[in-house]
Amino acid sequence: MKILTIYATRYGSSATVAHWINERFILGGHTAECVNVAENPECGGYDAILLGSGIYSHKFLSEMEQYIASNIDELMLAKTALFGVAMRTETFFRRGNAYGGTVMLERYGAMLGQRCVAGRILGGEMIFEKLAETDKHRLEKFYHSIALSEAEQATRKNPRTLLNKQQCWEFAEEIINCLKS
Ligand SMILES: Cc1cc2nc3c(=O)[nH]c(=O)nc-3n(C[C@H](O)[C@H](O)[C@H](O)COP(=O)(O)O)c2cc1C
Repeated sequence: MKILTIYATRYGSSATVAHWINERFILGGHTAECVNVAENPECGGYDAILLGSGIYSHKFLSEMEQYIASNIDELMLAKTALFGVAMRTETFFRRGNAYGGTVMLERYGAMLGQRCVAGRILGGEMIFEKLAETDKHRLEKFYHSIALSEAEQATRKNPRTLLNKQQCWEFAEEIINCLKS
């Protein structure tokens, strides 16, 4: 099968995830390539297209949202799959609503329709000291809004990684199985 993986990233962890998934497709005997959405790749002529982004405030980066919206007709001709890369991968429930996890992918799945065969939130990475000032401020505002103690904030600001190649390969295997059926 001919598979294209397109990713959006701000700090590089989604690029790492996308390349690991792509590597597994190639090891499975598929013709696979991996491209940054910033290159505005042509998406015609593929059997499957995987779309992924770092998660910011429960959403894909705007460049990936715009890419999906602008190329929706072409994307719907292929089978598609989605992944987000985040520091909280599971869904959680608060005040009557579910947040996070694959719930965050629903809006994109709704655009892509029934040929969107798989979706997961995969572990990312965050190194607070390396973030742009605007992102540091956004995070600090968020930590205040959820009333984190100074100690909890300091823990969150430690370099943290959830990057996991095995998890990425398992997702690649799930996609390959979905494409067969
Ligand atoms: C401003 C900001 C907002 C974030 N929002 C979320 C979020 O809503 N949920 C989450 O699980 N992780 C969140 N993260 C963590 C990122 O999703 C994580 O660091 C991811 O690996 C970044 O991907 P990238 O390196 O490809 O840009 C946020 C990080 C920053 C800096």
